[in-house]
Amino acid sequence: MKVLLTGGCGYIGSHVAVVLMSAGHEVVIVDDLSNSHRDVVGRIADIAGQLPVFYQGDVGDVALVRDVIRRHQIDSVIHLAGFKSVGESVQLPLKYYQNNVCGTLGLLQAMEAESVPRLVFSSSATIYGDPQYLPVDEAHPQRVINAYGRSKLHIEGMLQDISASRPSLGVVCLRYFNPVGAHGSGLIGEYPRGTPNNLMPYVVQVASGEREVLNVFGGDYPTPDGTGVRDYIHVMDLAEGHLAALNFLSSNSGWHAFNLGTGRGFSVLEMIRAFEKESGHTVPYRITARREGDVACSYADVQAAARGLNWKATRALEDMCSSAWRFQSRLSTGGRSPAD
Ligand code: NAD
Ligand code: UD1
Repeated sequence: MKVLLTGGCGYIGSHVAVVLMSAGHEVVIVDDLSNSHRDVVGRIADIAGQLPVFYQGDVGDVALVRDVIRRHQIDSVIHLAGFKSVGESVQLPLKYYQNNVCGTLGLLQAMEAESVPRLVFSSSATIYGDPQYLPVDEAHPQRVINAYGRSKLHIEGMLQDISASRPSLGVVCLRYFNPVGAHGSGLIGEYPRGTPNNLMPYVVQVASGEREVLNVFGGDYPTPDGTGVRDYIHVMDLAEGHLAALNFLSSNSGWHAFNLGTGRGFSVLEMIRAFEKESGHTVPYRITARREGDVACSYADVQAAARGLNWKATRALEDMCSSAWRFQSRLSTGGRSPAD
């Protein structure tokens, strides 16, 4: 297939590009580099053995996207471009509605004008809010508590409406749980700008000595060791889930949603221990107050993805930790951050 991959220079997008190209698909990336770096394109090529086509631009730019679709005869879109910082979305909600919702609107207008029949969208488990039961399946009630989550929910709703009005269109919303880790080469991975908000990048920076100590947000949750439990999924498994979604759309139309997770949760302390073992470095930590908006425990029901997409996460926690560490080590020995 000829795939337009929005946000393809980002953390998840770069892994999706590698997986798609390795499976023989043509990949055209549109990314405005607002949270990534151009040299990722070369790193993708180093791994996949060929350069993806790259356009620096905004997905909300209808003329640009229509031109890209026509020029490359795009038949499928994987849409990952967007902002993702929960905390920032609470401070600057309009920034999130503008980029995530309006950006998607522009992309959808371009797709409709050029009659592109398939779309895979990166949604998030955050739309489920505080789990009312576990594991969380796709029918779980939705409740968002921040603008980031609401932007994902709005987009899912827009996609449902469009799909109802255009029955030939196929849409898959992938609801990611907690993507971590990196490609085995250590060439691509996650490099957050500024202080990391998420657990894994923070753990990596403490292990490498960039930060002194990890604050563990809450030690009194009703979980086996008192710390929060999440469904961490290897980013390569997640990327392969996008390939499975594209395959699904080659023979299905309509609107569909699937969780992408492993179906199993690990606590913060289990993550720290696993990371220490794989990296050979200690991760000093202290238990602090709970973080506002956090839930005790969340993990996915993965049966729908197994049945519908014929996809399952296979990589173990050890691989998530060792690959994240390999990427960090290459960054450190390279002497610079690609996000500089
Ligand atoms: P990322 O920031 O690394 O990647 C997003 C990419 O999109 C970046 O390269 C950025 O430059 C680009 N971008 C942003 N706005 C754009 C625009 N208007 N036009 C063109 N490019 C634009 O983030 P990521 O972790 O790779 O996440 C990818 C997607 O997955 C996001 O939509 C995010 O909300 C979603 N998601 C991520 C997680 C996670 O934990 N990383 C969890 C659930 C959902
Ligand atoms: C966060 C977002 C969620 C988003 C997801 C993936 C919030 C409230 N939620 O979820 O919307 O979809 O990232 O990007 O931000 N932890 C620490 N110390 C840290 C960082 C995290 O103890 O420095 C703990 C958290 O309390 C949690 C676990 O580690 O128990 C995972 O946290 P994180 O990586 O931020 O992911 P989520 O909270 O699941």
